[in-house]
Formats: sequence, C-alpha cells, structure tokens
Amino acid sequence: MTRKHNFYAGPAVLPVWAVEKAQSALMEYMDSGVGITEMSHRTTYFDDILNGAIASVKKLYKLSDDYHVLFVQGGASMVMAISALNFCREGKKSQFVDTGTWSRRAILESSRTSAVTDVIWSGKDVNYSHLPDIDSLQFDDDASFVHITSNNTIAGTQYKKFPSTKAPLFVDMSSDFFSRPVDASQFSLIYGGLQKNLGPAGAAMVIVHKDMLEKIPQGLSEMLDLGVYAKKNSIYNTPPVFTIFVTHLVLRWIDEVIGGLENMHNHNLKKAAYIYDAIDESNGFYSGAVDVKDDRSLMNITFKCKNEELDKLFLKETTALGFMGLKGHRSVGGLRASTYNSCPMESANALGSFMTDFAKKHG
Ligand SMILES: Cc1ncc(COP(=O)(O)O)c(C=O)c1O
Repeated sequence: MTRKHNFYAGPAVLPVWAVEKAQSALMEYMDSGVGITEMSHRTTYFDDILNGAIASVKKLYKLSDDYHVLFVQGGASMVMAISALNFCREGKKSQFVDTGTWSRRAILESSRTSAVTDVIWSGKDVNYSHLPDIDSLQFDDDASFVHITSNNTIAGTQYKKFPSTKAPLFVDMSSDFFSRPVDASQFSLIYGGLQKNLGPAGAAMVIVHKDMLEKIPQGLSEMLDLGVYAKKNSIYNTPPVFTIFVTHLVLRWIDEVIGGLENMHNHNLKKAAYIYDAIDESNGFYSGAVDVKDDRSLMNITFKCKNEELDKLFLKETTALGFMGLKGHRSVGGLRASTYNSCPMESANALGSFMTDFAKKHG
C-alpha cells in the first residue's frame, strides 16, 4: 500500500511509527493475549496506558501538579457544552473572542445558560481573515472566564501569543494541540478534540486547573461534571480505550522520536514554509485567505488560485497525484492544506513543489 499525501483537516494523518504499533496491538497488546480493542478498561494494562498518556502530557506541557488531565468523549463540542454548564455563572460574564466557526460554537453553548455571554471581539465581518490585536481587547477581571480559540481550523489563523487576563483563561487547542511549546500555566482550561494533532476521533483532552473544579455547581449529571472525570481519572464510564492508546503513542512519538515540542514546532514551521513560500512567490497566482501574515496558521493553510476554474483543476491534478483533503471548507472556499504534527515533511515539500510548478504552468 502507498500512503497518500493526507492533508485532511481531521481526522487526519497519524505517524507511521504510531500506526504500526497500533496495528500490532490490534492482534495482541503486549503479552495480554487479547487485542487492544478487546481489552477491559479495568486492567492494569489500560491503567498503564492512561497514566502513561497523562504523564506524557504533563511532561510535554511541563504541567504542575495543580492540573488534571482528563479524557472526555464527544469531542471538543462536548467540552464546550460541559464548560458552559460547569463554569458559566448567572449574572457574570463569560467572555469570548470570536475568531471563527468554532469560537461561535463555544459562544452558542454559553448563550444557552443564564450567564451574560459577552463577545468582546468578532472577526465575522472580515470573514475571519485576521485575529484581533490582543493588547486592545477589554477583559472583565470579574468574568467567569475568557475563551479563545488558539488555531482556527477553517479560517487558517493562529495566535502567536496569547492574551493575559485576570479572569480564568480557557483555550480551544483542537487544531494545534502539542504543535509548539506552550506556557500552560497561563490557562485555567485547555481542551481539544484528539483527531487532528494527537490521535483518532472519539474523545477530547481537557487540562484543567484544580481551582476550577471547586467552582462546579452541585447537581450536574455525572457525565457533564469535570469534577467527576477528575475524581475517577476519566473512568466514570467506559473510556475510549483505543483512542487513548493511540494518543499515548502519538505523544510518545512527539517526545521520543521528534524530540519534544521545540523540535515539533521547528518541523511545523518548515512544513508550512514550503506551502506559504509557494503562495508568496507565485506573483499573485495564489492568494492566502488570511490578510495579516503574522496571523497565519502553521496547521491549516488556506489559499486559492486566481480563479475558481484553476482551483478545480488544482484539485483534479493533485488528486490524480495522490494528494488528499485539499478542498477548502465550504465557508471559505478555495483550498486548504492541513499540515498537522504528523503530516510528513515529504508531503509538505511535495505540495509546495507542485504548487510552484502549477503556478508556472497556468500563471
Ligand atoms: C478548533 C476546533 N474546535 C472544535 C472543533 C470541534 O471538534 P469536535 O468535532 O471534536 O467536536 C473543531 C473541529 O474541527 C475545531 O477545529
């Protein structure tokens, strides 16, 4: 089998190093006599996988013992709903910076509660083509929390630094989880779906400061209470064993094979440069959807050719050559290349070269 150049926005490409280990674990995990998808979550094997994944997260993000690392089924969207139920307070503001579709989903969840949902900046009128100047944002020190989206998967923007707030800062890192070093101590809650940068679909990871757990109201359903997830080490009910297993492998790959987040970031910079250089050196043949260079994402590169016919031809030719997932999201149009952690350097290089040749041929 030839693995194609996979640029899908998620579920997305995984490292061969991890996929091969997962493949062999499907038949038998270690010396257990059963495959990983056939194994009870009440075994010491799974305890080791879960606690190993948590230890890798703590190591890579240099987390203090003040943070819990949790796995929540239902994806990032479920965490948005849970955080609204756990942390939105009547009469208090929940503040949001609206940088795209996924910010809006978090805003929607807050607006279903009795809290005051306060959108302090929105990029909607400019089609989310840039991020706000974070120094000019007005935060309420007394807000229940401030929510941002670190990387905007659809628009193709990514914060290079984060705002500093007195109120607890929450961040959706679904599409740039573990792609660069992050000072986790500035956040009270970090969350993201696993299916882009970390593993298969099926769960979200939540990194939450223990002080936040004390604020959760009584009487919530156990499945919607982060305090229960923390108390039960994410095993209140049956966790997604395979998803957590592969996530642990990918975290180990970042640590042991890539050499940590500094190296991961350098890889990601280099991969994105192949594609952004092809855009910038095309004499206007390609244009990026993001209008401020510093806001460009290293994870989701959004661009288009100089007309729609050429976009179609681009997709036809790249598909024939074994590239996948390059069609832009319907709300932005054009093209999008998702160059997550596990996207191989060769794939990004191959796409950059194709783009340069295509622009020369049709420019
Ligand atoms: C930034 C971001 N947040 C949230 C989501 C929603 O994730 P899920 O499908 O895990 O609910 C996505 C999905 O693409 C995303 O890119």
